[in-house]
Amino acid sequence: MNRYENKAWRESMRIRVDYNNMMSDFIGERGIRKAQLEAAEGALAAAAASLEEKRGQMKWRDLPYNQDIILRDMKAAASYVRENFDNFVVFGIGGSALGPIAVQQALSHLRYNELPKEKRGGPKLYVEDNVDPERMASLFDVIDIERTAFNVITKSGSTSETMAQLLLVVNLLKKRLGDKWTDHIIATTDKDKGNLIKIAKSNNLRTFYVPDGVGGRFSELCPVGLLAAAVCGIDVDELLAGAAYADELCKNRNVWSNPAATMAVLEKLAMDAGCNIGVMMPYADSLKYIADWYAQLWAESLGKAYDLTGARINCGQTPVKALGVTDQHSQVQLYTEGPFDKVITFLRVDEYRQNVVIPRAFDELPDVAFLSGHSFNELIQSEQRATEYAVLKSGHLNKTITVPEVNAFTIGQLLYIFEVQTAFAGELLNINAFDQPGVEEGKNATYALLGKPGYEQKKAELDAAPRKNARYTV
Ligand code: PA5
Repeated sequence: MNRYENKAWRESMRIRVDYNNMMSDFIGERGIRKAQLEAAEGALAAAAASLEEKRGQMKWRDLPYNQDIILRDMKAAASYVRENFDNFVVFGIGGSALGPIAVQQALSHLRYNELPKEKRGGPKLYVEDNVDPERMASLFDVIDIERTAFNVITKSGSTSETMAQLLLVVNLLKKRLGDKWTDHIIATTDKDKGNLIKIAKSNNLRTFYVPDGVGGRFSELCPVGLLAAAVCGIDVDELLAGAAYADELCKNRNVWSNPAATMAVLEKLAMDAGCNIGVMMPYADSLKYIADWYAQLWAESLGKAYDLTGARINCGQTPVKALGVTDQHSQVQLYTEGPFDKVITFLRVDEYRQNVVIPRAFDELPDVAFLSGHSFNELIQSEQRATEYAVLKSGHLNKTITVPEVNAFTIGQLLYIFEVQTAFAGELLNINAFDQPGVEEGKNATYALLGKPGYEQKKAELDAAPRKNARYTV
Protein backbone atom coordinates (compact mmCIF):
# COMPACT_ATOMS: atom_id res chain seq x y z
CA MET A 1 0.00 0.00 0.00
CA ASN A 2 1.26 3.45 -0.88
CA ARG A 3 1.48 5.86 2.07
CA TYR A 4 -0.87 8.31 0.32
CA GLU A 5 -3.59 5.64 0.40
CA ASN A 6 -3.61 5.93 4.18
CA LYS A 7 -6.16 8.54 5.27
CA ALA A 8 -4.38 9.44 8.50
CA TRP A 9 -1.11 10.03 6.63
CA ARG A 10 -2.87 12.16 4.03
CA GLU A 11 -4.46 14.30 6.73
CA SER A 12 -1.11 14.69 8.46
CA MET A 13 0.28 16.08 5.19
CA ARG A 14 -2.43 18.66 4.67
CA ILE A 15 -1.17 22.12 3.70
CA ARG A 16 -2.36 24.72 6.22
CA VAL A 17 -2.97 28.42 5.64
CA ASP A 18 -2.77 30.85 8.55
CA TYR A 19 -4.09 34.28 7.63
CA ASN A 20 -4.40 35.82 11.09
CA ASN A 21 -1.86 38.46 10.08
CA MET A 22 -4.00 39.60 7.17
CA MET A 23 -6.81 40.55 9.55
CA SER A 24 -7.37 43.92 11.21
CA ASP A 25 -7.73 42.21 14.63
CA PHE A 26 -4.03 41.41 14.36
CA ILE A 27 -2.49 43.90 12.01
CA GLY A 28 -4.49 46.99 12.83
CA GLU A 29 -6.26 49.41 10.55
CA ARG A 30 -4.59 48.26 7.33
CA GLY A 31 -5.86 44.72 7.85
CA ILE A 32 -8.91 43.09 6.34
CA ARG A 33 -12.00 43.34 8.51
CA LYS A 34 -14.20 40.35 9.29
CA ALA A 35 -17.12 42.26 7.82
CA GLN A 36 -15.23 42.52 4.51
CA LEU A 37 -14.84 38.75 4.40
CA GLU A 38 -18.52 38.31 5.14
CA ALA A 39 -19.40 40.81 2.44
CA ALA A 40 -17.21 38.92 -0.06
CA GLU A 41 -18.98 35.62 0.56
CA GLY A 42 -21.53 36.18 -2.19
CA ALA A 43 -18.87 36.94 -4.80
CA LEU A 44 -16.86 33.91 -3.69
CA ALA A 45 -19.86 31.61 -3.89
CA ALA A 46 -20.56 32.94 -7.40
CA ALA A 47 -16.90 32.36 -8.33
CA ALA A 48 -17.09 28.81 -7.00
CA ALA A 49 -20.27 28.14 -8.99
CA SER A 50 -18.77 29.60 -12.14
CA LEU A 51 -15.59 27.50 -11.77
CA GLU A 52 -17.71 24.41 -11.29
CA GLU A 53 -19.61 25.24 -14.47
CA LYS A 54 -16.36 25.80 -16.39
CA ARG A 55 -14.64 22.76 -14.94
CA GLY A 56 -15.14 20.86 -18.20
CA GLN A 57 -12.99 23.44 -20.02
CA MET A 58 -10.31 23.55 -17.35
CA LYS A 59 -8.75 20.23 -18.32
CA TRP A 60 -5.83 20.82 -15.95
CA ARG A 61 -8.25 20.03 -13.14
CA ASP A 62 -8.65 16.47 -14.48
CA LEU A 63 -4.92 15.73 -14.57
CA PRO A 64 -4.85 14.01 -11.14
CA TYR A 65 -7.37 11.47 -12.44
CA ASN A 66 -7.14 10.78 -16.15
CA GLN A 67 -3.56 9.89 -16.97
CA ASP A 68 -3.27 6.16 -16.26
CA ILE A 69 -2.27 5.21 -19.80
CA ILE A 70 -0.03 8.24 -20.24
CA LEU A 71 1.65 7.47 -16.93
CA ARG A 72 2.42 3.95 -18.06
CA ASP A 73 4.02 5.26 -21.29
CA MET A 74 5.84 7.98 -19.45
CA LYS A 75 7.31 5.60 -16.90
CA ALA A 76 8.47 3.36 -19.77
CA ALA A 77 10.11 6.36 -21.46
CA ALA A 78 11.67 7.40 -18.14
CA SER A 79 13.15 3.91 -17.70
CA TYR A 80 14.51 4.04 -21.25
CA VAL A 81 16.19 7.38 -20.47
CA ARG A 82 17.51 6.23 -17.09
CA GLU A 83 19.01 3.11 -18.63
CA ASN A 84 20.54 4.67 -21.71
CA PHE A 85 21.62 8.23 -20.91
CA ASP A 86 23.73 10.19 -18.45
CA ASN A 87 21.95 13.52 -19.02
CA PHE A 88 18.38 14.63 -19.58
CA VAL A 89 18.03 18.10 -21.03
CA VAL A 90 14.70 19.91 -21.12
CA PHE A 91 14.35 22.61 -23.78
CA GLY A 92 11.33 24.79 -22.98
CA ILE A 93 10.39 28.14 -21.58
CA GLY A 94 7.76 29.69 -19.28
CA GLY A 95 5.12 27.12 -18.43
CA SER A 96 7.16 24.49 -20.26
CA ALA A 97 10.14 24.90 -17.92
CA LEU A 98 9.25 26.47 -14.57
CA GLY A 99 7.25 23.46 -13.35
CA PRO A 100 9.98 20.91 -14.10
CA ILE A 101 12.53 23.18 -12.39
CA ALA A 102 10.34 23.71 -9.30
CA VAL A 103 9.46 20.05 -8.83
CA GLN A 104 13.02 18.85 -9.35
CA GLN A 105 14.35 21.38 -6.83
CA ALA A 106 11.68 20.41 -4.32
CA LEU A 107 11.87 16.67 -4.59
CA SER A 108 15.33 15.64 -5.74
CA HIS A 109 18.50 15.93 -3.70
CA LEU A 110 19.40 19.63 -3.46
CA ARG A 111 22.72 18.95 -5.18
CA TYR A 112 21.33 16.29 -7.48
CA ASN A 113 23.55 16.90 -10.50
CA GLU A 114 26.68 17.00 -8.36
CA LEU A 115 26.03 13.63 -6.74
CA PRO A 116 27.98 10.65 -8.02
CA LYS A 117 25.95 8.57 -10.47
CA GLU A 118 25.29 5.67 -8.10
CA LYS A 119 23.82 8.02 -5.47
CA ARG A 120 21.86 10.05 -7.99
CA GLY A 121 20.14 7.03 -9.52
CA GLY A 122 19.00 8.88 -12.64
CA PRO A 123 20.64 11.06 -15.28
CA LYS A 124 21.67 14.63 -14.57
CA LEU A 125 18.89 17.11 -15.34
CA TYR A 126 19.35 20.42 -17.13
CA VAL A 127 16.37 22.67 -17.84
CA GLU A 128 17.43 25.18 -20.46
CA ASP A 129 14.88 27.97 -20.39
CA ASN A 130 16.85 30.76 -22.01
CA VAL A 131 18.58 31.49 -25.28
CA ASP A 132 21.53 33.34 -23.83
CA PRO A 133 24.23 32.23 -26.32
CA GLU A 134 26.83 31.92 -23.55
CA ARG A 135 24.63 29.64 -21.48
CA MET A 136 23.61 27.68 -24.59
CA ALA A 137 27.20 27.07 -25.65
CA SER A 138 28.27 26.22 -22.10
CA LEU A 139 25.78 23.34 -21.95
CA PHE A 140 27.77 21.47 -24.57
CA ASP A 141 30.93 21.90 -22.50
CA VAL A 142 29.39 19.83 -19.70
CA ILE A 143 27.35 17.19 -21.53
CA ASP A 144 28.27 14.54 -24.06
CA ILE A 145 25.40 14.65 -26.55
CA GLU A 146 25.86 10.98 -27.35
CA ARG A 147 24.95 10.26 -23.72
CA THR A 148 22.09 12.78 -23.57
CA ALA A 149 18.34 12.67 -24.16
CA PHE A 150 16.66 15.97 -25.04
CA ASN A 151 13.03 16.64 -24.14
CA VAL A 152 11.79 19.48 -26.35
CA ILE A 153 8.65 20.94 -24.75
CA THR A 154 6.43 23.48 -26.43
CA LYS A 155 2.68 23.38 -26.28
CA SER A 156 2.25 25.74 -29.21
CA GLY A 157 5.00 23.96 -31.10
CA SER A 158 6.22 27.26 -32.41
CA THR A 159 7.97 29.19 -29.64
CA SER A 160 11.11 30.68 -31.20
CA GLU A 161 13.39 30.02 -28.24
CA THR A 162 12.54 26.34 -28.00
CA MET A 163 12.54 25.77 -31.75
CA ALA A 164 15.97 27.43 -32.00
CA GLN A 165 17.24 25.05 -29.33
CA LEU A 166 15.79 22.12 -31.26
CA LEU A 167 17.51 23.25 -34.47
CA LEU A 168 20.80 23.57 -32.65
CA VAL A 169 20.74 20.16 -31.06
CA VAL A 170 19.42 18.32 -34.12
CA ASN A 171 22.30 19.74 -36.11
CA LEU A 172 24.83 18.61 -33.50
CA LEU A 173 23.27 15.18 -33.16
CA LYS A 174 23.08 14.60 -36.91
CA LYS A 175 26.74 15.46 -37.30
CA ARG A 176 27.70 13.05 -34.57
CA LEU A 177 25.14 10.25 -34.97
CA GLY A 178 23.60 10.51 -38.44
CA ASP A 179 20.13 8.98 -38.62
CA LYS A 180 20.29 7.87 -35.00
CA TRP A 181 19.66 11.48 -33.85
CA THR A 182 15.98 10.69 -33.44
CA ASP A 183 16.70 8.29 -30.57
CA HIS A 184 17.86 11.27 -28.53
CA ILE A 185 14.82 13.52 -28.83
CA ILE A 186 11.50 13.33 -27.02
CA ALA A 187 8.89 15.85 -28.10
CA THR A 188 6.17 17.15 -25.77
CA THR A 189 3.61 19.27 -27.59
CA ASP A 190 0.04 19.70 -28.76
CA LYS A 191 -1.24 16.66 -30.60
CA ASP A 192 -2.37 18.60 -33.69
CA LYS A 193 -1.17 22.20 -33.64
CA GLY A 194 2.23 23.71 -34.31
CA ASN A 195 5.43 22.65 -35.98
CA LEU A 196 6.92 20.39 -33.36
CA ILE A 197 4.21 17.79 -33.90
CA LYS A 198 4.90 17.88 -37.65
CA ILE A 199 8.63 17.35 -37.02
CA ALA A 200 7.86 14.63 -34.47
CA LYS A 201 5.58 12.77 -36.85
CA SER A 202 7.79 13.02 -39.90
CA ASN A 203 10.83 11.82 -37.94
CA ASN A 204 9.03 9.28 -35.82
CA LEU A 205 10.11 10.87 -32.54
CA ARG A 206 8.95 9.63 -29.16
CA THR A 207 6.13 12.08 -28.36
CA PHE A 208 3.99 13.09 -25.42
CA TYR A 209 1.04 15.43 -25.64
CA VAL A 210 0.02 18.51 -23.72
CA PRO A 211 -3.73 17.90 -23.41
CA ASP A 212 -6.25 20.38 -24.82
CA GLY A 213 -7.44 22.84 -22.20
CA VAL A 214 -4.15 22.68 -20.28
CA GLY A 215 -2.36 26.00 -20.67
CA GLY A 216 1.42 26.29 -20.30
CA ARG A 217 1.46 27.54 -16.72
CA PHE A 218 -1.12 24.95 -15.66
CA SER A 219 0.75 22.06 -17.27
CA GLU A 220 3.20 20.83 -14.65
CA LEU A 221 1.05 17.83 -13.74
CA CYS A 222 0.88 16.53 -17.33
CA PRO A 223 3.82 15.09 -19.36
CA VAL A 224 5.39 18.58 -19.41
CA GLY A 225 6.49 18.11 -15.82
CA LEU A 226 5.89 14.47 -15.08
CA LEU A 227 8.37 13.04 -17.57
CA ALA A 228 11.36 14.96 -16.17
CA ALA A 229 10.19 14.09 -12.66
CA ALA A 230 9.93 10.37 -13.48
CA VAL A 231 13.35 10.45 -15.15
CA CYS A 232 14.79 11.83 -11.89
CA GLY A 233 13.11 9.09 -9.87
CA ILE A 234 10.40 11.29 -8.35
CA ASP A 235 7.19 9.48 -7.37
CA VAL A 236 4.78 10.93 -9.93
CA ASP A 237 1.87 8.86 -8.60
CA GLU A 238 2.27 10.50 -5.20
CA LEU A 239 2.53 13.92 -6.83
CA LEU A 240 -0.83 13.34 -8.55
CA ALA A 241 -2.33 11.88 -5.36
CA GLY A 242 -1.42 15.15 -3.62
CA ALA A 243 -3.13 17.10 -6.39
CA ALA A 244 -6.24 14.91 -6.12
CA TYR A 245 -6.32 15.51 -2.35
CA ALA A 246 -6.03 19.26 -2.98
CA ASP A 247 -8.85 19.04 -5.51
CA GLU A 248 -11.16 17.81 -2.75
CA LEU A 249 -10.11 20.74 -0.53
CA CYS A 250 -10.57 23.21 -3.38
CA LYS A 251 -14.07 21.92 -4.20
CA ASN A 252 -15.30 22.67 -0.69
CA ARG A 253 -18.38 24.89 -1.02
CA ASN A 254 -17.66 26.29 2.43
CA VAL A 255 -15.20 28.84 1.09
CA TRP A 256 -13.56 29.38 4.49
CA SER A 257 -12.50 25.71 4.50
CA ASN A 258 -11.31 25.97 0.92
CA PRO A 259 -7.67 27.14 0.85
CA ALA A 260 -7.76 28.26 -2.79
CA ALA A 261 -10.92 30.34 -2.39
CA THR A 262 -9.76 31.84 0.90
CA MET A 263 -6.34 32.86 -0.39
CA ALA A 264 -7.83 34.27 -3.59
CA VAL A 265 -10.28 36.51 -1.75
CA LEU A 266 -7.62 37.68 0.70
CA GLU A 267 -5.34 38.70 -2.17
CA LYS A 268 -8.23 40.36 -4.00
CA LEU A 269 -9.19 42.41 -0.93
CA ALA A 270 -5.53 43.29 -0.42
CA MET A 271 -5.24 44.39 -4.07
CA ASP A 272 -8.36 46.52 -3.65
CA ALA A 273 -6.56 48.21 -0.74
CA GLY A 274 -3.50 48.96 -2.90
CA CYS A 275 -1.34 45.91 -2.15
CA ASN A 276 -0.24 45.38 -5.71
CA ILE A 277 2.83 43.38 -4.81
CA GLY A 278 2.75 39.78 -3.60
CA VAL A 279 5.96 38.47 -2.06
CA MET A 280 6.37 34.70 -1.82
CA MET A 281 9.02 33.83 0.72
CA PRO A 282 9.72 30.13 1.27
CA TYR A 283 11.89 29.15 4.20
CA ALA A 284 13.37 26.18 2.39
CA ASP A 285 15.76 26.02 -0.53
CA SER A 286 13.70 23.11 -1.80
CA LEU A 287 10.75 25.49 -2.29
CA LYS A 288 12.76 28.31 -3.84
CA TYR A 289 11.62 27.59 -7.38
CA ILE A 290 8.02 27.01 -6.33
CA ALA A 291 8.08 30.79 -5.80
CA ASP A 292 9.41 31.17 -9.37
CA TRP A 293 6.74 28.90 -10.79
CA TYR A 294 4.06 30.72 -8.80
CA ALA A 295 5.33 34.09 -10.03
CA GLN A 296 4.57 33.11 -13.62
CA LEU A 297 1.22 31.57 -12.72
CA TRP A 298 0.07 34.64 -10.81
CA ALA A 299 1.58 37.28 -13.10
CA GLU A 300 0.59 35.86 -16.46
CA SER A 301 -2.88 34.83 -15.33
CA LEU A 302 -3.90 38.02 -13.53
CA GLY A 303 -1.98 40.75 -15.33
CA LYS A 304 -4.70 41.75 -17.75
CA ALA A 305 -5.66 44.99 -19.48
CA TYR A 306 -9.36 44.21 -19.89
CA ASP A 307 -12.05 42.48 -17.90
CA LEU A 308 -14.63 40.15 -19.43
CA THR A 309 -16.98 43.05 -20.19
CA GLY A 310 -14.25 44.70 -22.26
CA ALA A 311 -13.64 47.47 -19.72
CA ARG A 312 -10.01 48.54 -19.37
CA ILE A 313 -8.86 47.63 -15.86
CA ASN A 314 -5.09 46.90 -16.03
CA CYS A 315 -5.23 44.60 -13.04
CA GLY A 316 -2.79 42.21 -11.43
CA GLN A 317 -0.47 41.85 -8.51
CA THR A 318 3.28 41.85 -9.09
CA PRO A 319 4.82 38.67 -7.72
CA VAL A 320 8.18 38.98 -6.00
CA LYS A 321 10.34 36.03 -5.08
CA ALA A 322 12.28 35.98 -1.84
CA LEU A 323 14.06 33.21 0.04
CA GLY A 324 14.11 32.82 3.79
CA VAL A 325 16.45 33.31 5.53
CA THR A 326 18.73 34.59 2.76
CA ASP A 327 16.58 37.56 1.82
CA GLN A 328 16.09 38.66 5.41
CA HIS A 329 19.50 40.18 4.80
CA SER A 330 18.44 41.84 1.58
CA GLN A 331 14.69 42.52 1.25
CA VAL A 332 13.09 42.36 4.71
CA GLN A 333 14.11 45.92 5.58
CA LEU A 334 11.78 47.02 2.76
CA TYR A 335 9.03 44.65 3.86
CA THR A 336 8.96 46.07 7.38
CA GLU A 337 9.66 49.75 6.77
CA GLY A 338 8.73 50.28 3.14
CA PRO A 339 5.39 51.24 1.61
CA PHE A 340 2.20 49.41 2.51
CA ASP A 341 1.81 47.96 -0.97
CA LYS A 342 2.57 44.29 -0.37
CA VAL A 343 1.29 41.03 0.96
CA ILE A 344 4.04 38.74 2.16
CA THR A 345 3.34 35.03 1.99
CA PHE A 346 5.68 32.91 4.06
CA LEU A 347 6.06 29.25 3.15
CA ARG A 348 7.21 27.34 6.20
CA VAL A 349 8.08 23.69 6.69
CA ASP A 350 7.22 21.69 9.83
CA GLU A 351 9.65 18.83 9.35
CA TYR A 352 12.75 19.21 7.21
CA ARG A 353 14.12 16.04 5.67
CA GLN A 354 17.44 16.53 7.44
CA ASN A 355 18.29 17.47 11.00
CA VAL A 356 21.60 19.31 11.41
CA VAL A 357 22.79 20.08 14.92
CA ILE A 358 24.96 23.10 15.67
CA PRO A 359 27.98 21.73 17.59
CA ARG A 360 29.41 23.18 20.77
CA ALA A 361 32.57 25.34 20.64
CA PHE A 362 33.91 28.75 21.73
CA ASP A 363 32.14 28.62 25.11
CA GLU A 364 34.15 31.67 26.17
CA LEU A 365 32.10 33.76 23.68
CA PRO A 366 28.48 33.72 24.92
CA ASP A 367 27.26 35.58 21.80
CA VAL A 368 28.42 32.63 19.69
CA ALA A 369 27.97 29.81 22.20
CA PHE A 370 24.21 30.42 22.59
CA LEU A 371 23.77 28.76 19.19
CA SER A 372 25.41 25.53 20.33
CA GLY A 373 23.13 22.61 20.91
CA HIS A 374 20.37 24.09 18.80
CA SER A 375 19.86 22.81 15.27
CA PHE A 376 19.79 24.47 11.87
CA ASN A 377 16.14 23.33 11.85
CA GLU A 378 15.41 25.39 14.97
CA LEU A 379 17.41 28.29 13.58
CA ILE A 380 15.54 28.54 10.28
CA GLN A 381 12.13 28.01 11.95
CA SER A 382 12.86 30.59 14.63
CA GLU A 383 13.98 33.06 11.99
CA GLN A 384 10.77 32.52 10.06
CA ARG A 385 8.73 33.08 13.20
CA ALA A 386 10.78 36.13 14.12
CA THR A 387 10.44 37.66 10.65
CA GLU A 388 6.72 36.98 10.60
CA TYR A 389 6.50 38.80 13.93
CA ALA A 390 8.59 41.73 12.68
CA VAL A 391 6.42 42.07 9.58
CA LEU A 392 3.27 41.86 11.71
CA LYS A 393 4.59 44.47 14.14
CA SER A 394 5.32 46.82 11.26
CA GLY A 395 1.69 46.56 10.16
CA HIS A 396 2.31 44.81 6.82
CA LEU A 397 -0.14 42.18 5.63
CA ASN A 398 1.23 38.66 5.71
CA LYS A 399 0.10 35.08 5.80
CA THR A 400 1.85 31.77 6.36
CA ILE A 401 1.39 28.57 4.43
CA THR A 402 2.70 25.53 6.27
CA VAL A 403 3.97 22.50 4.41
CA PRO A 404 4.14 19.62 6.93
CA GLU A 405 7.07 18.09 5.02
CA VAL A 406 8.36 18.61 1.49
CA ASN A 407 7.43 15.44 -0.41
CA ALA A 408 5.68 14.54 -3.65
CA PHE A 409 2.25 14.56 -1.95
CA THR A 410 2.60 18.04 -0.45
CA ILE A 411 4.15 19.47 -3.62
CA GLY A 412 1.28 18.09 -5.71
CA GLN A 413 -1.10 19.70 -3.23
CA LEU A 414 0.68 23.04 -3.24
CA LEU A 415 0.82 23.32 -7.03
CA TYR A 416 -2.83 22.42 -7.39
CA ILE A 417 -4.02 24.77 -4.63
CA PHE A 418 -2.11 27.67 -6.23
CA GLU A 419 -3.61 26.84 -9.62
CA VAL A 420 -7.15 26.85 -8.26
CA GLN A 421 -6.42 29.98 -6.21
CA THR A 422 -5.40 31.67 -9.47
CA ALA A 423 -8.60 30.52 -11.18
CA PHE A 424 -10.64 31.89 -8.23
CA ALA A 425 -8.78 35.19 -8.37
CA GLY A 426 -9.51 35.39 -12.11
CA GLU A 427 -13.22 34.99 -11.34
CA LEU A 428 -13.14 37.63 -8.62
CA LEU A 429 -11.38 40.04 -10.98
CA ASN A 430 -13.77 39.05 -13.80
CA ILE A 431 -10.93 38.43 -16.22
CA ASN A 432 -9.74 35.60 -18.43
CA ALA A 433 -6.98 34.06 -16.32
CA PHE A 434 -6.06 31.56 -19.00
CA ASP A 435 -4.84 33.67 -21.91
CA GLN A 436 -1.68 35.76 -22.27
CA PRO A 437 -2.18 38.35 -25.02
CA GLY A 438 0.73 40.41 -23.70
CA VAL A 439 3.11 37.49 -24.16
CA GLU A 440 1.76 36.73 -27.62
CA GLU A 441 2.51 40.30 -28.69
CA GLY A 442 6.18 39.87 -27.80
CA LYS A 443 6.32 36.47 -29.49
CA ASN A 444 4.82 37.91 -32.69
CA ALA A 445 7.20 40.87 -32.67
CA THR A 446 10.15 38.45 -32.39
CA TYR A 447 8.84 36.46 -35.36
CA ALA A 448 8.59 39.70 -37.34
CA LEU A 449 12.12 40.82 -36.44
CA LEU A 450 13.58 37.47 -37.46
CA GLY A 451 11.67 37.38 -40.75
CA LYS A 452 9.12 34.63 -40.12
CA PRO A 453 6.78 34.35 -43.14
CA GLY A 454 3.33 35.81 -42.46
CA TYR A 455 4.61 38.51 -40.10
CA GLU A 456 5.42 41.16 -42.70
CA GLN A 457 2.71 43.48 -41.42
CA LYS A 458 3.98 43.19 -37.85
CA LYS A 459 7.48 44.01 -39.15
CA ALA A 460 6.14 47.13 -40.85
CA GLU A 461 4.41 48.07 -37.57
CA LEU A 462 7.71 47.69 -35.69
CA ASP A 463 9.59 49.67 -38.31
CA ALA A 464 7.05 52.47 -37.95
CA ALA A 465 7.54 52.68 -34.17
CA PRO A 466 9.12 55.99 -33.02
CA ARG A 467 12.91 55.98 -33.33
CA LYS A 468 14.90 56.26 -30.09
CA ASN A 469 15.99 59.83 -29.36
CA ALA A 470 19.72 60.15 -28.64
CA ARG A 471 18.85 62.96 -26.24
CA TYR A 472 17.50 60.42 -23.79
CA THR A 473 20.53 58.15 -23.74
CA VAL A 474 23.65 58.72 -21.69
O1 PA5 B 1 1.70 29.88 -19.71
C1 PA5 B 1 1.92 30.02 -20.90
O2 PA5 B 1 1.09 29.75 -21.75
C2 PA5 B 1 3.27 30.50 -21.40
O3 PA5 B 1 4.11 30.88 -20.37
C3 PA5 B 1 3.94 29.41 -22.19
O4 PA5 B 1 4.14 28.29 -21.37
C4 PA5 B 1 5.28 29.86 -22.76
O5 PA5 B 1 5.12 31.02 -23.50
C5 PA5 B 1 5.87 28.76 -23.64
O6 PA5 B 1 4.94 28.39 -24.61
P1 PA5 B 1 5.06 27.04 -25.40
O7 PA5 B 1 4.93 25.91 -24.43
O8 PA5 B 1 3.94 27.08 -26.38
O9 PA5 B 1 6.40 27.02 -26.05
